[in-house]
Amino acid sequence: MFMCNALRLMTQSPWLARRQEAEHGLGIEYQVGDAKNLGLGPNYDLVVAAYLLNYASDRAELAAMCRGIASSLKPGGRFVTVNCNPALDFRRAPSYRPYGFETRTTDDYREGAPITWTFHLDDGLFSIENYYLDVALHEAAFRDAGFSTIRWHPPRLSPQGEQEFGAPFWRPFLKHPPATFIECVK
Ligand SMILES: C[S@@+](CC[C@H](N)C(=O)[O-])C[C@H]1O[C@@H](n2cnc3c(N)ncnc32)[C@H](O)[C@@H]1O
Repeated sequence: MFMCNALRLMTQSPWLARRQEAEHGLGIEYQVGDAKNLGLGPNYDLVVAAYLLNYASDRAELAAMCRGIASSLKPGGRFVTVNCNPALDFRRAPSYRPYGFETRTTDDYREGAPITWTFHLDDGLFSIENYYLDVALHEAAFRDAGFSTIRWHPPRLSPQGEQEFGAPFWRPFLKHPPATFIECVK
């Protein structure tokens, strides 16, 4: 069994997470904080974050988040994240409506351009805003923060996804993936 200290970054009220911990007792301690100022010290083997870096609206904010994350990891520790895809030009993205959401951005697609995601749920719509920062800016921010290895992983179709909807359904999504997975080692 692999045991490690893991840090999952989130800013929302952790009451739901704490309630689940009380029910399932996984030994997880929840804290709320800004990724740019974690101040936790290099005590973790693994940091995971879901759609966090895409909230950085310029290179300075991205660099500060990456420094906050790297400074929480032990040497050799890993950061794993899923993120809005910096390699995709959202001006040319297809409609993702078949998958339950849509994206839009401005014609002026440069550092900090807003990318709006609108999700279609059974009980209505909600939108969130991410910001465009290109791949090179991400690589620079990871390296400057102290990460030595950076790997990008595109989404892959799961056997369940293929079985349920068929491969053609996923083709536009996989050809223009709006999300990407990133793995960095300190
Ligand atoms: C799409 S949500 C994912 C929620 C959460 N990470 C999870 O795994 O359930 C992204 C979260 O990142 C948070 N966020 C944005 N800027 C942040 C920052 N500087 N530090 C920490 N969290 C931040 C947002 O408030 C939002 O809750």
